[in-house]
Amino acid sequence: MTVMKKSKTGIPGFDKLVQGGFPTGANILLCGTPGSAKSIFSLQYAYNGAMMYGEKSMYVSFEQSKDSIERQAVQFGWNLAAAEKKGLLHVKNVPVKKIDHTTFPKIIEYVKQHKIKRLVIDSLSTLSINAPMYAAINELFLKDLIMPDNIYAPSLSGDYMLKRFIYMLIGELQDLNVTCLLISEIEQGSEAYSRDTVSEFLCDGIVQMTFESMGGKYSRSLLVRKMRHVKNDEDIHPVEIGKKGLVVHGLSDSGGELHAERTGKTKKSREA
Ligand SMILES: Nc1ncnc2c1ncn2[C@@H]1O[C@H](COP(=O)(O)OP(=O)(O)OP(=O)(O)O)[C@@H](O)[C@H]1O
Ligand SMILES: [Mg+2]
Repeated sequence: MTVMKKSKTGIPGFDKLVQGGFPTGANILLCGTPGSAKSIFSLQYAYNGAMMYGEKSMYVSFEQSKDSIERQAVQFGWNLAAAEKKGLLHVKNVPVKKIDHTTFPKIIEYVKQHKIKRLVIDSLSTLSINAPMYAAINELFLKDLIMPDNIYAPSLSGDYMLKRFIYMLIGELQDLNVTCLLISEIEQGSEAYSRDTVSEFLCDGIVQMTFESMGGKYSRSLLVRKMRHVKNDEDIHPVEIGKKGLVVHGLSDSGGELHAERTGKTKKSREA
């Protein structure tokens, strides 16, 4: 039996939820509502990869400028420039207006060229909404657009292009030996884990982050929703943004009990 290699996040309290880290080479969908700390989680994963585990990491943002990413990092005492100087961290910003059909192939090329081992795409939602727009029309199969009764449906073709793009993207990532965090932006109360509604099935794992009102106060939490080949933890854990970054609390430590009080999920009621 081969032992599964793990890509540790180094985020306090998280790795034990997935038996020691993300499976190396897995594609993980990190989904959550606005402000739920998806970007902080994924930057911490990339930075720790470089500084704690000596793994070449790449963080691509379509939403935050490099300056904005650095400003966030400084608050937690993360020296991104030092990690970049060592050649272990690559932080890239691609403005939304510059996204086109060459953006993803360029990322793949960069990953191969620089032998990147952990990759963050912040966000898959932004990339997938913008990139397929530029896909050459000859990539579309007419038979998929024209129904037997000859109805052409432009809105269906948009959905079709988006889904095809996601299948292509995740297929390509599977061929690389890179552990990938794909950020998915979802609305409050959404039952889906992505806007395209297919990436949650294609990805190997899903981590769901929330920031919602509990007992009159907003709280952040995290759930490992799926992790192929891993007996993952199935509880909803409180997440705190501490002085050095994110901390995921256990259900019985002080942060956890506070969260339990607010949600009414005390240890006793959970055990019942
Ligand atoms: N130093 C800090 N200490 C405590 N909380 C912070 C700190 N820095 C940021 N935050 C909180 O983290 C939130 C932003 O986290 P992050 O950017 O990771 O969220 P996100 O899920 O990526 O959001 P979006 O969907 O908008 O991209 C802020 O709205 C703020 O509430
Ligand atoms: Mg973000």
